[in-house]
Amino acid sequence: MRRRIGWALLMAAMMAAAAFVACSEEEGDAVRVDGPSDVAPAEQASGEPVLLPNGAGRFPYLTALAREGQRIFRDDTFKSETFWGDVLRLHDAIKGRALGGVGAGLSPAEALALGIKVDVTAVPPDVAAAAQAGTLDLDDPKNTLALLKADAVIGIKGVFEGNDLVGVGITCAICHATTDDSFAAGIGRPLDGWANRDLDIGTIISLAPNLQVVADRLGVDVATLRTVLQGWGPGKFDAQVLHDGRALRPDGKPAATLIPPAFGMAGQNLHTWTGWGSIPYWNAYVANTQMRGLGTFYDPRLNDPEKYPIAVATGEWNKRDDEDAITSKLAPLHIYQLSLAAPSPPAGSFDPKAAMRGSRLFNGRARCATCHVPPLYTEPGWAMHTAEEMGIDDFQASRSPDERYATRRLGGLWSHQKGGFYHDGRFATLREVIDHYDELLDLGLSEGDKADLEQFLLSLGDPLEKKKK
Ligand code: HEC
Ligand code: HEC
Repeated sequence: MRRRIGWALLMAAMMAAAAFVACSEEEGDAVRVDGPSDVAPAEQASGEPVLLPNGAGRFPYLTALAREGQRIFRDDTFKSETFWGDVLRLHDAIKGRALGGVGAGLSPAEALALGIKVDVTAVPPDVAAAAQAGTLDLDDPKNTLALLKADAVIGIKGVFEGNDLVGVGITCAICHATTDDSFAAGIGRPLDGWANRDLDIGTIISLAPNLQVVADRLGVDVATLRTVLQGWGPGKFDAQVLHDGRALRPDGKPAATLIPPAFGMAGQNLHTWTGWGSIPYWNAYVANTQMRGLGTFYDPRLNDPEKYPIAVATGEWNKRDDEDAITSKLAPLHIYQLSLAAPSPPAGSFDPKAAMRGSRLFNGRARCATCHVPPLYTEPGWAMHTAEEMGIDDFQASRSPDERYATRRLGGLWSHQKGGFYHDGRFATLREVIDHYDELLDLGLSEGDKADLEQFLLSLGDPLEKKKK
């Protein structure tokens, strides 16, 4: 008897859950809702009810958070227009003199060349038609404004008064999304979590009319700052320089690192190239101190005058803005990022037989799996290694609290080959990465072994995806 009441309650709960899911369903969404609708509990082979009583998992709660997180990831500037607009006046450089700004303005052609991506689903029909007919003037900044106004520019949000662009802010998607190029190069449906290795964010920042604040902070003149920014190159950003002021490596090359993918992260402890912390840690770090949104950020590890003189001088290791537009976003943002699976490689993009042989090498003789432990492809635990262990210099590691490099997860590697591998892209190809390990670990791999390992690396999609039968 008690058992039957239990089922009845569960059924009712599940129907409520199904209704909830149905209500919040939108078209073309990227969040998959896993759970039954009208499936009777007994038939539920996968065995996971969507809604369980308190004390057990509440999966619709996660779905709702993920949806909200998607919006935040794509659209939330965290009030960063107070910096990019009000302080840097980047919008004036986008408009150009003809529209009341400064300089020549940023045309759509130039924006695309700088790796800025356009969401085709938001492009106004008349603009799309003109583009298709070849009559859209891609050299006119006015059309950049039209795209901004239509909210079609991925990761950049214009603030408009009527048709006048009066400010600009950025979102996570500017660096961590690309498109499928379904309309044209750089124009398509958004792919969240993919590393935008085309984005030349340094050059974009260098266009801003007022960089004095940043130059003062770093203790350099504006011309020097512009040179540094323009030296980063596509797909790179320096997420530490505003704290440590170390803009150049000892060899004189720019200190920027590659934008990593932000997918396939579930189950991993420490994130970023040098393992600064968890996903919510890093999101707070970046939204506050890099995107320069308004919020609260606390990390006493940065209160170190030797290592992070600027974080100490500015008090930014303990940032308390009057307004907080970030903290309430961290939970949804976290859940959304956990929902972003690493993309599977396109059919035919690798040789399955060679990949199978490569898998045996990876897990055996080549010793890769001692650090890249499947199916996470990073170590469960504290996945950090010294520069010496990795056979590389310690510059970037030395800028982080733990002074080590974090073992990278490898799912979806095929999607971010542009810009190279390792934190600074020092290895242009996967083959170079393999050659490095061959030498470092004295593996004695043959040319065939190396080719097989490479095919295996190219075959990796989402590590948790069940192997298709
Ligand atoms: C201007 C470009 C830029 C923006 C904007 C940006 N990121 Fe990043 N992101 C980077 C770079 C570069 C790194 C690597 C930093 C490092 O390792 O020192 C990174 C690292 C990460 C990582 C770690 C990924 C991994 O594989 O270790 C996550 C997660 C992440 N960003 C999420 C976000 C979120 C969420 C936002 C918005 C709040 C955001 N980022 C905004 C450039 C950016
Ligand atoms: C001692 C631990 C360790 C071993 C063994 C190891 N790796 Fe790594 N791997 C790392 C670390 C740490 C990084 C990140 C280096 C950096 O950030 O510069 C990395 C990075 C990589 C990358 C680059 C990922 C990216 O996004 O740029 C690839 C590919 C890779 N490893 C493949 C392999 C292969 C193949 C083997 C075996 C031949 C192997 N690794 C063995 C720790 C290890």
